[in-house]
Amino acid sequence: MTSRQTLFKVFYRLGFVPWDGHPLAKSLRDLVEGDGAMAPGTALDLGCGTGDSSIYLAKHGWQVTGVDFVAKAVSDFGLIVDSGCLHGMSDEDRDAYVREVTAVAAPGARLLLCEFIQGGSFGVPGIDPAEVERRFATDWTLLSSRSEPAMDNNGKDPARYYLFARAS
Ligand SMILES: C[S@@+](CC[C@H](N)C(=O)[O-])C[C@H]1O[C@@H](n2cnc3c(N)ncnc32)[C@H](O)[C@@H]1O
Repeated sequence: MTSRQTLFKVFYRLGFVPWDGHPLAKSLRDLVEGDGAMAPGTALDLGCGTGDSSIYLAKHGWQVTGVDFVAKAVSDFGLIVDSGCLHGMSDEDRDAYVREVTAVAAPGARLLLCEFIQGGSFGVPGIDPAEVERRFATDWTLLSSRSEPAMDNNGKDPARYYLFARAS
């Protein structure tokens, strides 16, 4: 078990889960309910925690698989969401993450990431926007990326969303 996994287990055991119940990312709502919303299909919620995004997606007709430090399901997902997981990983875990996410994405799938930038939140390593773009450049096309208003931490603007499409 990695030290980060142990840390999250301790957090959950202590009930220290400051991310729980946070507002859903506007970028996710736009994708599900906005103009040109995706038709419901299969979705994978990475680092789902207690499942805020999974529950929201299921309520909107998506067939959702949530994973959180458990073995991944092998399938072709049309939508993969990650609200605050990639930004906490080591470089090595990020390498594996991109490989595995790419492997379970259906052709044309959408990948929505909402992540803190470096220094964006106390105790979270964060991830530089250029690193996100570089890591997904081979197999994914970046459709849009902007600061994520629902994670604005008192106006400090510390988080971005990234919407990618998997090459068909
Ligand atoms: C900041 S919380 C966000 C939870 C949820 N996505 C939300 O928006 O409420 C990050 C979650 O990712 C999980 N996590 C972090 N690294 C992970 C990994 N390598 N594999 C699986 N889950 C991971 C943690 O256990 C935690 O539940």
